[in-house]
Amino acid sequence: MMINSLKGTRDIFSPEIEIWQYLEEISRNLFKIYSYQEIRTPIIEQTSLFSRSIGQATDIVQKEMYSFIDKGRRTICLRPEETASVVRAYVQHGFYQQKQINKFYYIGPMFRSERPQAGRMRQFHQIGVEAIGAANPLIDVEVIMLLNEILRKIGIKRENYFFKINSLGCFKDRESYQENLSKHIKPHLKKLCAECQNRFNLNVLRMLDCKNERCRGILSASPSITQHLCGECGHYFEQVVTLLEKFDIVIKKDHHLVRGLDYYTGITFEVTAKDLGAQNALAAGGRYNNLVKELGGPETGACGFAAGMERLISCMPERIIPAGRKKPSVYVVCLESQNSLKGFEVISELRRNGITAEMDYLGRTLKSQMRQADAFNSTHTILIGEDEIKSGTFTVKNMENGRQEKILQKNLLDVFNSLD
Ligand code: HAM
Repeated sequence: MMINSLKGTRDIFSPEIEIWQYLEEISRNLFKIYSYQEIRTPIIEQTSLFSRSIGQATDIVQKEMYSFIDKGRRTICLRPEETASVVRAYVQHGFYQQKQINKFYYIGPMFRSERPQAGRMRQFHQIGVEAIGAANPLIDVEVIMLLNEILRKIGIKRENYFFKINSLGCFKDRESYQENLSKHIKPHLKKLCAECQNRFNLNVLRMLDCKNERCRGILSASPSITQHLCGECGHYFEQVVTLLEKFDIVIKKDHHLVRGLDYYTGITFEVTAKDLGAQNALAAGGRYNNLVKELGGPETGACGFAAGMERLISCMPERIIPAGRKKPSVYVVCLESQNSLKGFEVISELRRNGITAEMDYLGRTLKSQMRQADAFNSTHTILIGEDEIKSGTFTVKNMENGRQEKILQKNLLDVFNSLD
């Protein structure tokens, strides 16, 4: 019986995996340049970590967590995002006692039990950063700049995405905004969709995120958070926007940008792709100045972003990976099956010295081995038969120009190394 992968999950393999590796390589290089250190946290965490930080009334906590009770009667879940895990680790290991500012990055799978559709997976992958330890507009700008740099380096053209920014203010600002928003929406409630009506009671801010055209029309006239920002939050927002302009980062203010996670305070931002359909959010993030304290740490500012790798990849141009000079890769062709031990000896020697090498393990015919050499994308083949073994001289064929030459076994390494 065949057992398939679960709905909303997928296997990723060659040749697609090369794009994933490329995206990871570009991101890791940038993280190093910006001094972010990698952190790998467990995939399972206590469910309460997320319900407390993301918020009880959010979609993620209400409907999307893979939460279960384990044999020890602990309530555990597969992480739906990584910010809460990074903050948990930051507090647990007392990172703040060693350094004032700690900058982390992560690459890994997240899990949300959503209805799968194009661009929406149950297991998806995020690349993200969290800069913990300061509330300084320059850090917000750094985080946004870093995200912008990743998008640029992986070849996503500026005209193909929108970059939006907003401020959700501090908790006090948000409280007065929510009050005012509720007052404004209440008379229109009956005309809004069922989801909006549900959100009205749970989290009125999230109504601004409704995708329904009719609701959007009605809600577009709602008051904006900007009018409710206190002096400090308003100033902070303007500072970040001015700095982004100074550094030529084109970002648009969107006063209706709300996020599906409750931990944000102040700056929030989102990147959406122009041609990705309904699931068009490529990356999102913002500031969460209360979360560290909420999870038992000191009172300290923090800011970060996460980008969905599947979505980034679907926006990357097809031929993004630079061709570069092809490194030698050798396929050893054995003329008779009894030569395979010699063949294995040769590939082992090449591999030990850093040269990609492969051979046939299925006793294929000569013709079929040559086809394998092509499929392996080899730059050279080495032909090994009885005569070659006796003379210690192998025929090496250059697969690009078809030229053949006889090379002594002891000189093989030098020849391939000189090509590298
Ligand atoms: P988020 O907006 O929930 O934020 O997710 C960030 C990105 O993950 C989204 O923009 C999207 O590209 C991708 N994503 C989310 N859900 C799915 C899904 N079901 N299938 C495919 N891709 C998905 C966070 O997770 C925050 N932790 C971001 C953050 C970091 N804020 C501060 N620091």
